[in-house]
Amino acid sequence: MPGFSTTAIHTGQEPEKVTGAVTVPIFQSTTYAQHELGEHVKYDYGRTINPTREAWETSISALEHGKYGFAFSSGMSAIAAALSLVKPREHVIAGNDMYGGTYRYFSKLLEPVGIEFSYVDMTRPENVSKAIRPNTRLIYCETPTNPMMSLIDLAAVGQLGRDREVMTVVDNTFATPYLQNPLDRGIDMVLHSVTKYLGGHSDVLGGAIVTSHPDIAEHLKFYQNSYGAVPSPFDCWLLLRSVKTLALRMRAHCENAQILADKLAADGRVKRVYYPGLATHPQHELAVQQMKDFGGMVSVETGSLENARKFTDALRYFTLGESLGGVESLVCHPRTMTHASVPEARRNELGITPGLIRLSVGVEDIGDLTEDIDRGLSAL
Ligand SMILES: Cc1ncc(COP(=O)(O)O)c(C=O)c1O
Repeated sequence: MPGFSTTAIHTGQEPEKVTGAVTVPIFQSTTYAQHELGEHVKYDYGRTINPTREAWETSISALEHGKYGFAFSSGMSAIAAALSLVKPREHVIAGNDMYGGTYRYFSKLLEPVGIEFSYVDMTRPENVSKAIRPNTRLIYCETPTNPMMSLIDLAAVGQLGRDREVMTVVDNTFATPYLQNPLDRGIDMVLHSVTKYLGGHSDVLGGAIVTSHPDIAEHLKFYQNSYGAVPSPFDCWLLLRSVKTLALRMRAHCENAQILADKLAADGRVKRVYYPGLATHPQHELAVQQMKDFGGMVSVETGSLENARKFTDALRYFTLGESLGGVESLVCHPRTMTHASVPEARRNELGITPGLIRLSVGVEDIGDLTEDIDRGLSAL
């Protein structure tokens, strides 16, 4: 099998057959000529299939070591597609620490129509095992989690799913296929907000799901076409361009994040640093085992809202904003931004405190980022 970057540059992105163009063309057409009535044509209508989207779906499924890839117009629409495999009166086990928008979707839109949820601390696989009921259909998690940077043991969850005949889904947005491939560890579906590292430049919104199960793929294909939340050909083209540099970007994100996490952890002015690459992280060993490196996301407990404000105000290159995974560094305040819709008691229990900030470490020059962090620390 070719290496990661070779796959990212070539799979689905072979030179175009008619002209030899080395970048996949943007097929903007929504409809295709059919030469006679009743003729079966591969390309018929843009919601059902589009050649640029097909190239992107081939690319992401190869990168995630799966057989079938499906592109969606946002991470949330990919999550909705995965959850469409669950019917009312069936049960889902979800991690208690995950993106606030995912929790909002589950609690505000799916629970009211009769889908049952248990939110458990999935850092202990025995908690998942205990939560399984006869009607459990799906186990859903992120790893590393957003924003507490906890790890879930993918092989343990995959095994549990197989043993108990429950489907497993992992949101791999934080790690990307460069750092880990959940399908290789026995997970049934891997999904992404490709808005983040896969897009990588904060200029495209999208989602994706990859699986190797033909029955799940058939459902997802039907759902994608029936529901219609597909990305535009231009967005697919941007993603095809972006993945070619995913390995280069991820190496730089990881290198910069490790340096900043080490620096912050050694500084007495912050209370705690959450980064799987720190030897003090409670699941550092698991991170070494299941990830190639530790990612670009670092969460920091500054101690109070006042400190969080002073720290973020002092930064020059880390822009205060939602989202993550772009080449530019961002800082966010999960309690009031990405996780505002998580109930207060749960936020407190998880550690999403008024003093918590989340850094998406970009690929700028490390000297400039280090100086920026110094500015933040000096303000405390
Ligand atoms: C881990 C994770 N999953 C899913 C999403 C939702 O993705 P999107 O914003 O592309 O709909 C986000 C968004 O921040 C996220 O951080």
